[in-house]
Amino acid sequence: MGTSAVKAVEMSMEGGSPVLTGFGHVDVRPGEGPEVALRELLASGSFRSTRASMGVGGQSTVVRYLEMVRMSEAELRQAIPFELQSHLPFEVDEVTYDCQALELGSPMGQEDSAQDQKHDTMTVLLAACRKDLIEERLNWVQQEGLTPVAVNLDLFALANAWELAGPAPLLTHEDEVGDGDSEPSQHKIHTERAVALVDVGAGRTSINVLMAGETCFSREIPLGGMDMTQAIARRLGVEAVEAEALKCESDGPSAEVEAAMSPVIEDLAAELVLSIDYVEHHRGVQVAELLVSGGGLLVPGAVQHLELAVGRPAHLWSPLEGLRINAERVDMEDLERWASSLVVALGLAGKVAA
Ligand SMILES: Nc1ncnc2c1ncn2[C@@H]1O[C@H](COP(=O)(O)OP(=O)(O)OP(=O)(O)O)[C@@H](O)[C@H]1O
Ligand SMILES: [Mg+2]
Repeated sequence: MGTSAVKAVEMSMEGGSPVLTGFGHVDVRPGEGPEVALRELLASGSFRSTRASMGVGGQSTVVRYLEMVRMSEAELRQAIPFELQSHLPFEVDEVTYDCQALELGSPMGQEDSAQDQKHDTMTVLLAACRKDLIEERLNWVQQEGLTPVAVNLDLFALANAWELAGPAPLLTHEDEVGDGDSEPSQHKIHTERAVALVDVGAGRTSINVLMAGETCFSREIPLGGMDMTQAIARRLGVEAVEAEALKCESDGPSAEVEAAMSPVIEDLAAELVLSIDYVEHHRGVQVAELLVSGGGLLVPGAVQHLELAVGRPAHLWSPLEGLRINAERVDMEDLERWASSLVVALGLAGKVAA
């Protein structure tokens, strides 16, 4: 359920692998809640499944990467309730939460300062969401006759989509020449390559940094395509609807539109650089590339602008390239147009279907 549109993807298992068998989108109209768009979307007849997996995000959610003493899963489940409150801006009984020990090594500082303690700590991923948000959304889908089967964070759905249909990471010169070297140098251990998934929506941008396919950092930044539209409206003195149309011109933005959007892209890049610097310093990984999804940077030239401002390779990726699609059940042209915005919904559906 995005700020600008509610999107849904239907995934079915066919011959042991997931296939996209339906999708849809309905804009959230100004002044209306997302439930209106959701109702319209589910009534559209695009879906056969009655099981629903939903995503949550925004200020009602919390994600933390905690350094804890190494322990079993059973011990972790006992320990977390005592840890929880200090990490939440809410009361414990207001949230639903879950946790999982990650496979990652300890953060660099700890490894450097105490080699022998390296295996005594572990990173625990903690995710929490306010119950009122979850209950509201469960009600919405149940009212449409669906059975909710899972709730996930949009941030993690992004990673699931990449796992399901993402492009292979770039191979750098260093990787190509480095393989024959069997000496496990300190440098190598500390510069594992990571990929940053960046979903630029209308109201927010999600970043999830994956190291060997596993999350090691994620965060939401309250900036997106809507901020670009507003900047255009202000600079050109036009209404938001007109600014949106100018932004989405198929032959690219005018110089003036580009100039209006530029500070927003620069601000977004600055936030991404903060996150990337943090994860590189803290985890000892090298963020080799940014894989961009969402509608926010579909303006021609916007990804290149971000790439320059962040100083890392950045590419738009389409989940359709790595996905089986039942072309008889979907409008392929519309699917291609919307592919970039469907990544989160795809990650939500794909995980449950599989
Ligand atoms: N062809 C296009 N050219 C430029 N911008 C586009 C284009 N298509 C969509 N956008 C922009 O993408 C944004 C919507 O993207 P997306 O559908 O990923 O957002 P959302 O999921 O609704 O929002 P959020 O994730 O922030 O809650 C809007 O700001 C819209 O202006
Ligand atoms: Mg979105």
